[in-house]
Amino acid sequence: MSSLSKKEMEILSSPTFQQIINRQLENPSRRNVLKGSMGVAALGFLGLAGCGDGDGAAASPGTGGSAQLSAVGFSSTPLSLADSVQVADGYRFQVLYKLGDPIASGVSAYANDGTDAANNPEEFQFRSGDHHDGMYFFGLGADNAWNPEESTRGLLVINHEAITEIFLHENGATTVAGVRDANESLKEMYIHGVSVVEVRRGSDGQYSVVQNSVFNRRIHTFTDMEISGPLRGDAAMITKYSSAGTRTRGTINNCASGYTPWGTYLACEENWEGYFANANDTGRSDNEIASLRRYGISSSQTSREGWATADETGQVGEPFSRWNITITGATAADDYRNAIFTYGYNVEIDPFRPNSTPKKRTAMGRFAHEGAWVGPVEAGKPIVYYMGCDSRFEYIYKYVSTANWDAADATGGLQAGDKYLDNGKLYVAKFDADFTGDWLELAAVAAGTVQAPVRGSGTLSASAGTTYTVSGSTDQYLNTRIIADIAGGTPMDRPEWGGVNPRNGEVYMTLTNNTSRTTADPANPRTYFDDDTNNDGIGDSGRFGNVNGHVIRWKEDGSNPAAIGFAWDIYLFAAESDDLTNPNVNISGLTAENVLSSPDGLWFSEKTGVLYIQTDDGAFTDTTNCMLVAAVPGEVGDGSTVTVTNPNGGGTVSTRVGTLGTLRRLVVGPKECEITGLTESPDGKALFINIQHPGERTSSLTVAPSSAWPYTLADGSFGNPPAGTSPAVGNRPRSATIVLTRTDGGLIGQ
Ligand code: FEO
Ligand code: CA
Ligand code: CA
Repeated sequence: MSSLSKKEMEILSSPTFQQIINRQLENPSRRNVLKGSMGVAALGFLGLAGCGDGDGAAASPGTGGSAQLSAVGFSSTPLSLADSVQVADGYRFQVLYKLGDPIASGVSAYANDGTDAANNPEEFQFRSGDHHDGMYFFGLGADNAWNPEESTRGLLVINHEAITEIFLHENGATTVAGVRDANESLKEMYIHGVSVVEVRRGSDGQYSVVQNSVFNRRIHTFTDMEISGPLRGDAAMITKYSSAGTRTRGTINNCASGYTPWGTYLACEENWEGYFANANDTGRSDNEIASLRRYGISSSQTSREGWATADETGQVGEPFSRWNITITGATAADDYRNAIFTYGYNVEIDPFRPNSTPKKRTAMGRFAHEGAWVGPVEAGKPIVYYMGCDSRFEYIYKYVSTANWDAADATGGLQAGDKYLDNGKLYVAKFDADFTGDWLELAAVAAGTVQAPVRGSGTLSASAGTTYTVSGSTDQYLNTRIIADIAGGTPMDRPEWGGVNPRNGEVYMTLTNNTSRTTADPANPRTYFDDDTNNDGIGDSGRFGNVNGHVIRWKEDGSNPAAIGFAWDIYLFAAESDDLTNPNVNISGLTAENVLSSPDGLWFSEKTGVLYIQTDDGAFTDTTNCMLVAAVPGEVGDGSTVTVTNPNGGGTVSTRVGTLGTLRRLVVGPKECEITGLTESPDGKALFINIQHPGERTSSLTVAPSSAWPYTLADGSFGNPPAGTSPAVGNRPRSATIVLTRTDGGLIGQ
C-alpha cells in the first residue's frame, strides 16, 4: 500500500468506524435488538446480517459471526456464447416472471406471438411489462406490512425500462407514412413502467407469482403522479394535464431503483428525453433552450418509438400529443411544452398500498437517474442517497435529508417520504488527484450566475447555444446538470449502479464505459482501443475511450454519510481476455476466471456482504454473453498507486487501484441480454436476477431470432433450451426475472 494522506489516516482511525467494527464483532444478537429501533439499512451496516437469525439455517463458512468475508465459495462459471443461462456448479435457477405474464385473475397466459392485447392495449395493465431492470424484494409479513426479515412471502417491485418492439406486435412495429399505429403505441405505453407482484416460496425452495394477489399492480405511462418537493406548483410543471403544476402522467425508462427505510420503492427515470418530440424552439426562453440542449433534446427531435406521431382521432386525454413538447398553445396549460420538465426524477411508490399515488421527488434532482442507494441509516441522523447520472461525462450526486431519521417512521409509506425526500441538500462529487474528494453543494451556486456556453450532453466539447442564467433556488432541482457544471463536479464515465457495503458503509459505483473519452483524469484514467482482431462486427466495434469500464468507491470522512469530504480509489478495472497482458488496460490483474466488461448492475448482499457486479456490454460480446460476478470487497486504500499510460494522446495519469480479493463468475446469460436487476431474499438464499432483452438484435420476424430464451420445456415450465434445440422462425424471446438458488439451499455466494 502506498502512503496514506493525513485525511485518509484520520478516516481510517476514526473512532466511529472502529466502534462500529468492534460492535459487529462483539454482539451478533444485536440484529433483533435493533429491529424496530433503527432502519433496516443500519442492520446491514453494523455487519449483523450473516449472523444466525433464528431461521434454522446453519451459518456458512465465511460469515458465521465473523465480520470479515474471505472468499466466495464456488468455482467460476466459464464464459459462454450459448443461448442459455449458465450458473456455477451447485446452483440452479428458475424462470419466475416473464414479459406478458398475467398478474390478475382471469387474464390469459401470454401467447407471445404479438396478438396479446393487440385490440385492447389496456390489458397490459394486468401483465408484466418488458425489459425487466432494477427491482427490490420487500418481505411481506402476515399482517400484510413490510417485514424486512420475511423471505417466504414478498412483494417484488420491478422496473420495465424499455421494450424490444419487434417482439411485441404480430408483424413487428407498424409505421405508415411516418405515423405510428395507435393501438401499438398505446400497448407500448402500458408495457413501460413498473410491476408490483406478490411472490411466495414453496417448500421446494422455488418461488411463484401469486396471480390474483391484491397487491399486484402495474404502474405505467398513464399512471397519475404527484409532483412533490420544491418543484411542486412551479411554473415549469404546468401542463395541459395539470394547470396547477402539481401532477403529471406516468413514468418512463425506469432503470435501476432504490428502496427506503420506510418500506417504499424508488423507480428512477433514466433516458426519458428521447420519448419526446420537439419540432422547434419557437417561443422558448434562453434558459429553456439551454436546458433542452443540456439534457440532450434537439430543436428537431422525433420521438423514440414514434408515439408522438400516432393519430389521436377518437382518443381521450391526448395520449400521443402529450409526447410532443413543441409549443402550440397560448399558455403552458394549453399544451405539453413542459411535459419534458415533469420527467427525470426519482419516483416513490408504496407497494403496500396499491391505491396510493406515486410521487416524483424533485428535491433529489432531475437528470438521467440510474438509481438511488440509501446510505447507512442511524437514528437522529439524516437520510442519505447516492445517485448517478448515466450519460457520458455526467456526475455522481448525493442527497442529504434535512429531517433526521426517526424509527417511528419505519412503516410511514409516502408520508415518511414527504418528510425525508422533499427537503434536503443536493451535492455533486468532485474527485481530486490526491485520492480525496469533495461533495459540492449545488445550493452554493448563486442566482445570477451565467453559464455559457452550455456543455452538451455526451461530449466534453462546448456546444453552441444560448446562455443559462441561474434564476434562483429551484434551478438545482430542475436543471441539476447545469448547476453541477457550474459547481465543478467531476465528469465521469457513465455512472451506473451504486451500492453501500453493509460491513463498513463504503460506497461503490460502476462507471460502465465511455466511448467518447479522449483525455484521462485520476478517477477516469483509461482511454484505449478495443483491439479485437476478428472483425466480426460485434465485440470489435472499433471502440475507443474507456472501453470496458471500472468501479470506483469512496469512504466518507469520519464514516459519516452526510460528510462533505471523502477518500476514494478504484476497486476494479474491467478488461477483456485479449487484454490480460496489457498493463495499461488490465490494471486489476484479472484472469480467465473473472474477466468482465462494462460493469453496470451492482449489489451488496446485506446478509453475507458479498458484492455482486452485473454487465451490460457491447465490447466483449464476441467472446461472451453478459454476466454476474461475485466478489469479496476490500476497503478504500487497500491497494496501490499506479501509473496508467494511454495511447494516442490520452495522457499519463496516476490513480489508485484496490487489491482485488476473490472475484468469480456466478452466472452468464443468454444471447444479446443484459444481466441486471439484482435483489435478494432477506435470508440470503435466493438472488432475483433480471435477464433483459435477450435477442434484441433480431431485425426480422421472417428469420430465426438470435435468441429464443426462455424456452418452453416439456412440463410447460420455462428454461434453457432442451438438447438439440435452437431458435426457429416464429420463436420470440422474453425479458424475465429468474431466481438463483443453491441446490443445497445454502447462502448464495458462500
Ligand atoms: Fe438503464 Fe444506465 O442503464
Ligand atoms: Ca443499467
Ligand atoms: Ca472487444
